[in-house]
Amino acid sequence: MKKVVLAYSGGLDTSCIVRWLKERDWEVICFVADLGQGLGKGEDLAKIEGRALAAGASKVYIKDLQDEFIEDFILPALKANAIYEGKYLLATALGRPLIAKYLVDIAHKEKAQAIAHGCTGKGNDQVRFEVTAGILDPKLEILAPVREWEFKSRDEEIEYCQMFNIPIDVTKKKPYSIDRNIWGISIEAGILEDLGQEPPEDAYMITKAQTHQVSYPKYVEIYFEKGVPKKIDGKTYKLKTLITHLNEIGGLYGVGRADMVENRLVGIKSREIYEAPAATILYTAHKELECLVLDRELAHFKEIVALKYSELVYYGLWYSNLKLALDAFVNQTQKNLTGSIKLKLFKGSCVPVARSSANSLYKKELSTYGKEDKFNQKLAEGFIRIWGMPYQK
Ligand code: ARG
Repeated sequence: MKKVVLAYSGGLDTSCIVRWLKERDWEVICFVADLGQGLGKGEDLAKIEGRALAAGASKVYIKDLQDEFIEDFILPALKANAIYEGKYLLATALGRPLIAKYLVDIAHKEKAQAIAHGCTGKGNDQVRFEVTAGILDPKLEILAPVREWEFKSRDEEIEYCQMFNIPIDVTKKKPYSIDRNIWGISIEAGILEDLGQEPPEDAYMITKAQTHQVSYPKYVEIYFEKGVPKKIDGKTYKLKTLITHLNEIGGLYGVGRADMVENRLVGIKSREIYEAPAATILYTAHKELECLVLDRELAHFKEIVALKYSELVYYGLWYSNLKLALDAFVNQTQKNLTGSIKLKLFKGSCVPVARSSANSLYKKELSTYGKEDKFNQKLAEGFIRIWGMPYQK
């Protein structure tokens, strides 16, 4: 029998896929990646496993990949300040290559000749899964049933599951398509497709209307060591706890929402909203510390790198040589990135208000307008003359 490893979420689509592949003579092994989407809390892991088996899977792997996700994917993106089109902090995009890597690993272990995913033919995620798998093992076959199957609606899929006694939750359809992990939430479809409409409050999951209830600001100080966040308000946390904690605080103050029309890789523009409180707080603080520590040329060049880096992540090119090379550059820039940034969170905003670092290049005696001024203003005259010389006729 042919064997395939499927990226399984436990939802309707991927549950149908298990059966659909089985009907086409595939032995299906399901892989559930825990990236902090709330498995084991809201959703019961045993329930997901049971559903996969009921759908016809021969085996189910469930792996908690949160630490690896943070260490090997989130941190490099944070150090690079990678933001797609000025707004999207790439939570979904960063998770895909990690899931793909495990699909390939499990395929090798299980001697499967194929991997499968539940993405449609219109999105970025299919590209990310397949390009990553192609880089890691070009010999693996890739199956994308949703791109070719006969189901035209959610109701048809529900009927299919009922026919095969697959226990899905046939509660009312969620009005949005949601992808969630520890770094953020991506929300699309439904009313959001109407560009003339403000996203309804119920579309947001972790930055709810509480925004409007907190009428005083919150200060939070983040301490970084070589570009890696280590402490909140002087207290050391493991990264997973630190991020979880900042998601809670940020969420309470409505920090980290984005509403954007983005350019998808497949040529479509789409309207999506995002929630990423911890990511927003950490990006803001990290960038601010760089303002203090990096010299001008390095800081400016790093912005160009950030732009390129975000494209590579978005385009599914995590395992490309260019991304690897940019990591080396970015890591080099983080050697002195140790220090603290204090931020003020208030009604959705997150702004730096105080900074300190032993590696700061800020010299008050040079910038001051007070009487301690050590800047030799006489030198400015010659500097300006020579600087402007090439442009004079
Ligand atoms: N547009 C985002 C990306 O390409 C999110 C895609 C997944 N979103 C979702 N709601 N399923 O990374």
